[in-house]
Amino acid sequence: MSDYRRITIAKAGEHTGEPVEIAGWLYNLRKSGKIIFPLIRDGSGTIQCVGVKSALPEDLFEALKNLTQESSVIIRGKIRAEARAQGGFEMDIEGAEIVQRVPEETPYPITPKEHGTEFLFDHRHLHLRSRRQHAVLKIRHEIIKAIRDYFDSNDFTLVDCPIFTPAACEGTTTLFEVNYFDEEKVYLTQSGQLYNEATAMAFGKTYCFGPTFRAEKSKTRRHLTEFWMVEPEMAYATLDDVKRVAEELIVFMVGRVLENRKTELATLERDLTKLEAIKGPFPRISYDDAVEILKKKGSEIVWGGDFGGTDETLLSEEFDRPVMVDRYPTEVKAFYFETDPNRPEVALGVDVIASEGYGEVIGGGQRVHSYDTLLERIKAHNLPEEAFQWYLDLRRYGSVPHAGFGMGVERAVAWLCGLEHIRETIAFPRMLYRTRP
Ligand code: 4AD
Ligand code: MG
Repeated sequence: MSDYRRITIAKAGEHTGEPVEIAGWLYNLRKSGKIIFPLIRDGSGTIQCVGVKSALPEDLFEALKNLTQESSVIIRGKIRAEARAQGGFEMDIEGAEIVQRVPEETPYPITPKEHGTEFLFDHRHLHLRSRRQHAVLKIRHEIIKAIRDYFDSNDFTLVDCPIFTPAACEGTTTLFEVNYFDEEKVYLTQSGQLYNEATAMAFGKTYCFGPTFRAEKSKTRRHLTEFWMVEPEMAYATLDDVKRVAEELIVFMVGRVLENRKTELATLERDLTKLEAIKGPFPRISYDDAVEILKKKGSEIVWGGDFGGTDETLLSEEFDRPVMVDRYPTEVKAFYFETDPNRPEVALGVDVIASEGYGEVIGGGQRVHSYDTLLERIKAHNLPEEAFQWYLDLRRYGSVPHAGFGMGVERAVAWLCGLEHIRETIAFPRMLYRTRP
């Protein structure tokens, strides 16, 4: 039995001078004559260890000195404050146990040298161990926790929605079809919204949070085919409620990341001033205003068209924080949008465009609540009426104005982390040309 108490690197500072052990992997190894400096990571952090030849059994010193990258190892010894060390602590080695030594013949494929993106994503199962990826996924976790805390403490009930669905929510062009036994075809959900509308009528305020799928053939830095979306829905609510909640959610989320993930943001060399600027109130403009701004900036947009990625980037250049754009042309929006009673050609919808060119992070709005209008829309969009009968029921039995939105978690993570590409924001990205590992 070991007298060394198992601790995590993150808590090393609480155990200076005590006999402790750290169970991890060899991240890097420096040697200088009779001293070795294994850098150990354990998932919670990294710590530099110091092994002195004269203080260790000969064979152990040699074994550590020749240890290969990513070998698993348990190090025993004492933690010491060290101002120059990253994290502020070092560990003096008194003993060690090599759990699995990575053989020389099959070395760890990801070395400190530069690798191409394809190579790294082919080895994503290992890539996740690197410092940068670790920081991104820690921030992702923080964001997800913040989202849940925000909704949970604002009286929203979590009611998750199905993934196999019989009908489209966001239009039929981006559906993934699945063979569902013999009888019928089903699709992977594009959004939980339609079901949220049912749960909001049962609970008042709800949210769902799960994976969603889009068969989008776009190969951009903002699109995944499988992404996670959080979607709140509120009964007796309007477009203004959506804007208020969306703004509060983003401000809360950014605050949490700034408060709890300083180390990770530093690893990513994130410009904190950009995040600190994300405070309410966010500018609120109309689609009409946005089109004017874009034209002045040289975009080819004409009234009636949807914004492309470049338009969103151009628009964000005008503001130091997210901008809310409302009242898009009804034509470019999904079938369920309520229209402005004074201007039926525009929808009561809003997109939140992130700052720094990160594009649309939130889309939502007010839903059609009249039975007749909804039925007309379903017909006009050539949607199968039969599959939407339950959705029409929500307008037959106590229909009320209601509204909600969806935020793509990966878009939010890419933005707050300041990443070039969305593929780094999820452990195992699914994209047009990537379904492995
Ligand atoms: O604007 P979208 O399509 O809205 C909906 O799905 C609504 N039914 C949501 C609702 O009102 N409950 O998607 C919402 C958000 C986008 O703003 C974006 O952040 C993200 O989902 N998103 C994607 N993220 C990554 N890859 C993709 N292919 C995405 N498509 C949408
Ligand atoms: Mg959208």
